[in-house]
Formats: sequence, structure tokens, C-alpha cells
Amino acid sequence: MTDHNQVKMTAMNYEKERPEAENPLKVEDLTLRDGHQSLFATRGRTEDMIPVAEMMDEVGFWAMEIWGGATFDTMHRFLNEDPWERIRTLKRYIKKTPFSMLLRGQNLVGYRNYADDVAKAFVERAVENGMDIFRTFDALNDYRNFETVVPVIKASGKHFQGCICYSLTEPRLGGEVYDLDYYVNKARDLESMGADSICVKDMAGLIAPYDAYVIVKALKAAVKAPVHLHSHFTSGMSAMSQLKAVEAGVDIVDTCMSPYAYRTSHPAIEPLVMTLLGTNRDTGFDIKHLAAINEKLEKEVMPKYKHLLDDSKMSIIDINVLLHQTPGGMLSNLVNQLKQMDALDKIDDVYRELPRVRKELGQIPLVTPTSQIVGIQTVNNVLFDTPEERYKMITDQVKDLCYGLYGKTAVPIDPEVQKKALKGYPRGEEPITCRPAEVLEPELEKAKAEIGDLAVDMDDLVLYALYPVTGKRFLKWKYGKEEPPAEVRPITLEQVKARETLIKKALAGELVEKPAKEAPPKSENARTFNVFIDGEYFEVGVDEVGESPVIRYIQQMPAQMPTMPAMPPPGPVSPPRSTPPPAPAPAPAAKPSAPEPLKAAEPPKAAAAGEGTPLKAPMPGMIVNYKKQVGDSVTEGETVVILEAMKMENALPAPVSGTIKSLNFQSGDSVAKNDVLCVIG
Ligand code: CO
Repeated sequence: MTDHNQVKMTAMNYEKERPEAENPLKVEDLTLRDGHQSLFATRGRTEDMIPVAEMMDEVGFWAMEIWGGATFDTMHRFLNEDPWERIRTLKRYIKKTPFSMLLRGQNLVGYRNYADDVAKAFVERAVENGMDIFRTFDALNDYRNFETVVPVIKASGKHFQGCICYSLTEPRLGGEVYDLDYYVNKARDLESMGADSICVKDMAGLIAPYDAYVIVKALKAAVKAPVHLHSHFTSGMSAMSQLKAVEAGVDIVDTCMSPYAYRTSHPAIEPLVMTLLGTNRDTGFDIKHLAAINEKLEKEVMPKYKHLLDDSKMSIIDINVLLHQTPGGMLSNLVNQLKQMDALDKIDDVYRELPRVRKELGQIPLVTPTSQIVGIQTVNNVLFDTPEERYKMITDQVKDLCYGLYGKTAVPIDPEVQKKALKGYPRGEEPITCRPAEVLEPELEKAKAEIGDLAVDMDDLVLYALYPVTGKRFLKWKYGKEEPPAEVRPITLEQVKARETLIKKALAGELVEKPAKEAPPKSENARTFNVFIDGEYFEVGVDEVGESPVIRYIQQMPAQMPTMPAMPPPGPVSPPRSTPPPAPAPAPAAKPSAPEPLKAAEPPKAAAAGEGTPLKAPMPGMIVNYKKQVGDSVTEGETVVILEAMKMENALPAPVSGTIKSLNFQSGDSVAKNDVLCVIG
């Protein structure tokens, strides 16, 4: 059969007449990792993957991506799930299809380069727990950051997939850095490292269809290893790019089951199966079987997650990607960050400053963690720089980048910025040129001494080494040393239904009357949801009594939507439509990236000890640790506390010189914007 000619098939018997393809396109399914990471804030729970696991194993996917990326972080932090356990559990249901994970090179599944001993142990544990394919990338495309993990993958007999992060400086392929030669050379580098397949990783949906064609053709000519295209739908181009890549001979592409597809996720599998039906690249997948999986997902799983979907816009594509060549998720992070700092009016300044900062920082690809590093520094520059001085507030991560701790940048970092960033840098003012992990001290023994018996096995220890603050808290939950908070518990379909029923009643005005019964006190099991409907915002408390969940209260909140710039609630607030809650519990936001209107309205935590200058949290976040104790003296500008926000650790400097009068929080505490973290007198 010739290229893409359709054979004649009738609707009734196409399956019987469907010829076997000469070169079937291989497909990796991303539903259980990148799919829910892209659309549902990585909140997918293992229990919600099990209902479709066996059916998905029957599809015939080349691989299923089920782990890695942000899953490790969110599972132990927000879901009270042991990340290692997920691999083992799914392996019991998915026996035929190989498992794939996203490995951030020497960053593993975190946001910085870890020491070699941690990197080796991590890969060994991933193999041991059941991982088969390691999709490995480095945010700078500096493959020296693969040198520790790749030999472990290969020695274990597992598949090393080497990635090239797709990046642009122009609207299309070409320009100074990221031209066709760049990608071909990177692919050759990966092949010489022993890559079993080579993946063009287009995390931002930047790859245009004709560029995908040109790149795939060139890579197929340059390397023997199979070529794989990973592209996000964000800009709306990826389904077209996928098809052009197929025409150019791509071996493997990535898709999601349709409920997890499109928007910032990936193209759906079903249209691709139909597109290639009867051609020499026919996937051979049974479209009826796919439909059955979708039905199960729609009925049994999606109701629990759809509130996480960003439905603030009609459009399912983000044309900012086309305008700014910037990952969609990065832009929404910037918008959130500006909102939290009451500075959304500065967004155009941020768009202008971003390419400049990126260029000064070495024209690096924008992907976790570099997208956060460049993004947060850009916001800092816009908010804090003066006409006389740029880079007034440099983040620790930018300092690390300037030192060479992430690797070699695509072009040299601006020497003035580098010099300023490294002034007083603890590791030294002269940047390194060696493989970054060579300057990192081993970390496992130290971690073991710190965590002690709370880490029962190597899996626990690696988890703690990667995430000391949240990892320790998780191990306390895991071993019953501490009660996990209500918001990390799963919700049931019954709870979802009860919530929806109540919202309908509230919107119909049926909840105005006084309830017949006095509301019982809210139990400790009660969970609070923020629910946004048609521009109105409700806080709903759901309590579980015996078997059936009971809705305790629903309260309409002041008109202050998360899509608008944060501002004080207007004048007299409209009265709640129904019974107010017994106590205005601060709502655990269902969507952690969204600002919490309730919290913002709360008065900031008062300074505990009398007179002095407060150090306030510039943004909501979590206390990593204090660098000073009460009674210590500090000089202005010295780091007092490390606050984790937007996945980055921020060193907050003392606003004045003096003595620490009080420290108001502890490691692991969440803080709101303007909370007083310490007082200096
Ligand atoms: Co991705």
C-alpha cells in the first residue's frame, strides 16, 4: 500500500478489512502523568487510575507514562500518597505495557541538581519498584547532567530515552541558537551516550507543523535510534505537528485519552487512530475500546477532578505561546505571582522584560525549573528594580545558575549580571565550568543522620533526601506519628454529588430559608471547598457522618474572583445567601496555584513581641527554615528565613539591622502574604 492512501472500508466491517500497517505508529499514553499534571495540577490519585488500568493495558500502547515529573512532589505533599507505592500498585494492573517516567536528569523529580549518591539511589529505587523507560531531560540540554543517571539506567537493562528540550528565540525554527543544526547535534550527542530512543520534548507547544516535519526528517537521517515527538497542545498546533511528524517518519508520538487531552495537555488518541486508519502507519488500536475507557473515565473519575480545570476562558488554546514563545504554564504562574503581589497591572512589563532576562541568563530553554527561575527573576526585576539599578533582588536560584550549578547555558551569561549575582556567593565568586554535581557533597548519609528511624527503608530515605520538609511531614503521616490534615484526603463521588446538588439549590435561591434543624457543629472531618460558578464564588463545607457525606454549609463569598486583580472587597459585602459557617475556617484552596480570597482578607498575623520592624512574607508560601534564632543579631540584607513559593526557595533578607525579637512560624508552616515572619528590634 502506498503512503497515506485510504483503503476502501465500510463502517460495518472496517475492522475485518483493516489491513495490517507496514510501519505502525507507536504511541505512548500520558494520561496518568503529563495529562493530569497539565490539566489537573498533578492531583490524580492512584485509586482513580485503577478503574481504567487494565483496560488501558489492552490498547497496545508502546508505553504508558505513569510517574515522574511533578507527581513525586504532589503525591507526598498534597495527596498523602507514597510515590513509590504508585508504581508497584499500577504494575499489578498493567502487566503488558512498559512504564515510562519523566526524569529531570540530575534534578531527578525535584527542582535542583542533587548529589550523585542521591541520583544513583533514586534511579536504582525507580528500577526496583518497576520503572522500564526513563525519559531523561535536562533543562539546559547540558548532557553532562545525564552522566550519573544514564549508566545506572543502562546497567539495569532499562530503556534510556534522551530528550532534547525544544526551545525557540524566534517565532519559528531558526535564529541564533535553536536552529536545525542545534537539534541534529544534540541528537547525535544523545546517541553517542547510548540513547535507546531520542525524544524532541516540546513542553510548551512551540513546535510548528512544518518545523516538526523538517526536524524529524533531519533526525531520522542523522541517528539510528527511534525518534519520538512529545508536544503539548497549548498553542493549538500539536495535532497538526504530530501529523507532519508522522509524514516525516517519526517512530513514536505522545497522546492522552480524550478527557485528559487538549488545553495545556496533549492531542487525544482517538482522532489520531481514525486519521491513520487503513494507512501504512495505522496504530491498529480499537477505537471502540478507547471509547469504553473514556466512558469509564467520564463517569467514575472526571467528576472528582473537573473543578481543577481552568475554565476561566472559553478558548482552549493559549495564543500567548504564539506571541511570546513562552510555556503556557509559565505565563499563568507569572500571572498568579503578580496577583498575589497585587501587581497584575505590571503584566505587560513582565512580557517585555522576560526575553531580556532570558537572554542575559544565557538564552536557556524554558522548562521546569528554568521557566520558574527566569519567570520569578523577571517579576522581581519588574517589581523591585529602579532606573539606576537592575537585578536589585536576585533569587538564590539565579545565583546558582550564574555559578554554573545547573550546567552550561546555551550562550554565555551576561558578565555584569553574573558578577553581581555571585557577589558574596557562598560557594565562591568564580563560576565553575565542570559538571555541576562534581561540586556537590554527598547527601545521603547526612539525610540519614537527620531523619533517623523515621525513614524505614531506602525509598523513605530517598524521598526525604529529595524533599526534606514535606518529605519528613509525609513520613510522619505514613507511620502514624501525625494525623494527616483533612485536605489531603481523597473525595468520593458521593461527596461530589452532594456538593453539586447544594450548589444548584443555592443558585436557585432555595437555601435562603432558615434550615429546619440547627446546624450541628462541624466535625474535624469536614472539608472546605471553594467553588466558582458563573462569576460567583461559594465556600462549601462538606462533612461526613457515618457513611453518607453531609453538606454542613454553603456560603456565597464576596465577589472577588481569582481571575481579577486582587483588591479589597468592595464596600458592604452582599449578605450570604444561606447559613454562615459556624466558624470561618480558612478554606484549603482546591487549586493550590490560585490565590485564596479568604486568606487574603484575613488580617496578617500580628507581631508577637512588641516593638520592632517586621519581616513580612512578600507572597504566600511555606517556611523552609529560619537561618537565625531569637536573640541573634542580623545586619540589613542578611538572610533570615527561606520561604518556598512558586516551587522556588526564596531567601528573605532582614529589612533592617538589629536583633531577632521573635520568629513567628516553624519549618513546614504555610504562610499568607504579609504574615509577619519575624520581628527585628
Ligand atoms: Co510534557
